Amino acid sequence: MSERYGLAGKDFLGDFIEKARRDGLSEALSDCRKEFPGFLNRFNNGLIDSYLAFAVDDCDRVLEVGCGYGALSMKLSDICDRVTAVDVNEKCAELTELRAEDEGRENVEVVAGNAAEMDFDDNFDAAYMVGVLEWIPVSTNSEDPRESQREFLEHVNDQLDEGGKVVIGIENRFGAQYFLGWKDHNGLWGTNLLPRKLANAYSKLRGKGGYEVYTHSRKGYEELLEESGFENVKFYAPLRSYRFPRFMVPLEKLRYFFSNVFVPENRKQGVGAKMFSLLPSWFLGFFAPHYVIVGERQ
Ligand SMILES: C[S@@+](CC[C@H](N)C(=O)[O-])C[C@H]1O[C@@H](n2cnc3c(N)ncnc32)[C@H](O)[C@@H]1O
Repeated sequence: MSERYGLAGKDFLGDFIEKARRDGLSEALSDCRKEFPGFLNRFNNGLIDSYLAFAVDDCDRVLEVGCGYGALSMKLSDICDRVTAVDVNEKCAELTELRAEDEGRENVEVVAGNAAEMDFDDNFDAAYMVGVLEWIPVSTNSEDPRESQREFLEHVNDQLDEGGKVVIGIENRFGAQYFLGWKDHNGLWGTNLLPRKLANAYSKLRGKGGYEVYTHSRKGYEELLEESGFENVKFYAPLRSYRFPRFMVPLEKLRYFFSNVFVPENRKQGVGAKMFSLLPSWFLGFFAPHYVIVGERQ
């Protein structure tokens, strides 16, 4: 199942876990370098630290939905009293658990299963969902993708304390990359840019099944969060991506960031930054490739 979420397949993860239990985690990691380099990048994702700044003032309990290989949960365990990591893919849950054990992290609890069906005893101060919301219609087998995302967010909202935060990392439906040829989650170009009904028909016509992995525009996410009971919704542009964020720039500061903060490392970056610093922040924000979105429980 997880191959469709852009992660390694269950067979690979199963073999990896077996090897890690037998020979130790670091041995298994050094062996898998060639087979699946993307795995190692995500497993050892140092840039995921950038997410810690968002929800951790006096953060006692934090939930990570869709923990994948556990990189963010491990970081959260450094600064929170208790981390609950959930993944519907039991191999991801097993790997995260093994990793927490290996690193001696006693404050990490891992649960395998669909977070849409889980109620936790205590409420959380924050819930993280990085690269997950778009897949909710798939993992919950929903007929109405947007409604399944709204219901899911409402459920997450219920698990938070008053004032608790949700932190979401996700693609922008109208991100500039899609106008430059990047494909949508279903492997087709342009479906995210089309009206949903048309995208659905086209996706079926191209043999990809119904169109269900929904991303949204800034306005679309704002409405979705507000309808799910969140307020004070703030948007950041993670650069370069929500998965590997070196900078988290508030959308309204994007122009300032490119004119006054960003230090280009080469000529190409310098030309890009110069160009971006001439454009208004609202424009840069509208076409930002990805968003990190933070909302507060009402
Ligand atoms: C694209 S991966 C992202 C993993 C990780 N957050 C990362 O950034 O590397 C999406 C993850 O969400 C999990 N997932 C999807 N739907 C879920 C659900 N309803 N409940 C729990 N986990 C879910 C998938 O199994 C997968 O591990």
